[in-house]
Amino acid sequence: MLYSQRMHTTGPIGVFDSGVGGLSVLRELCTLLPNEDYCYAADSHNCPYGSRGEAFIQQRSLRIVGWLIEQGAKVIVVACNTATAAAAPLLRATYPVPIIAMEPAIKPAVAATHTGVIGVLATVGTSRSTRLSSLIERYGHDVEVLTQPCPGLVEQIEAGDLDGPDTCALIERYTGPLIARGADVLVLGCTHYPFLRPTLTMLLGPQIRLIDTGAAVARQTARVLRDQGLLATRTTGRIEFWTSADPAESAPVVQRLWHMPLPIQRLPLAIAYPEHQLQA
Ligand code: DGL
Repeated sequence: MLYSQRMHTTGPIGVFDSGVGGLSVLRELCTLLPNEDYCYAADSHNCPYGSRGEAFIQQRSLRIVGWLIEQGAKVIVVACNTATAAAAPLLRATYPVPIIAMEPAIKPAVAATHTGVIGVLATVGTSRSTRLSSLIERYGHDVEVLTQPCPGLVEQIEAGDLDGPDTCALIERYTGPLIARGADVLVLGCTHYPFLRPTLTMLLGPQIRLIDTGAAVARQTARVLRDQGLLATRTTGRIEFWTSADPAESAPVVQRLWHMPLPIQRLPLAIAYPEHQLQA
């Protein structure tokens, strides 16, 4: 059966991230589209993607998105900037369902800066990507754009450490040079980072604007569903959370980030631990 023949208003929205960071996007989706069902897949066993090779991320993205479509997903939200940069074109070429992907908020940051300097916090993979450099080329010509790779931050968030001394030290190390060079707007170019907003504001002060694209991605998802006649007609939606890690280990961090009970299920082993998985 063609995937497109199975797409139906009752199918869930499939959401995918290397780990729990995509919950920041899921939060925006649930706010805007509360009647939809969601099937969230976290590849926490293989997280972080930021330091992985492109082939590895492409293989994981293909496998997990394929599984989400098998679950009946009518649309896929790639709630991961790193997977977007490595795999979005490949996913679109492979699967005939709408694929909605992240875009670091360069354009709104350029519009918001008063100093003419913006900082971009991202994973190593996103920082090096042609997707980010072409966005900067397109929108960043009148301002100075400082890109800061932030290895280690995703791991802190996956471990549920949003404000401990190690997390604060990493934040200060990565943001200090940007602020010293005059940045007044920071782009949160990784879906894990919105969970650091309170800590970032505590450390940097409220005068530093923090911008992410979770809400914009939710609006784009709503547009696509509306245009394709795929909006759900039920009155309440539900969320399934699947992970490639041990659900018992993921539970505390999911609880901390989501603030409400969210039952956690383990992805099938063939999806979580693919036999012929490429080495990073
Ligand atoms: N949430 C992912 C992103 O937006 C984190 C990537 C990683 O696992 O390093 O880039």
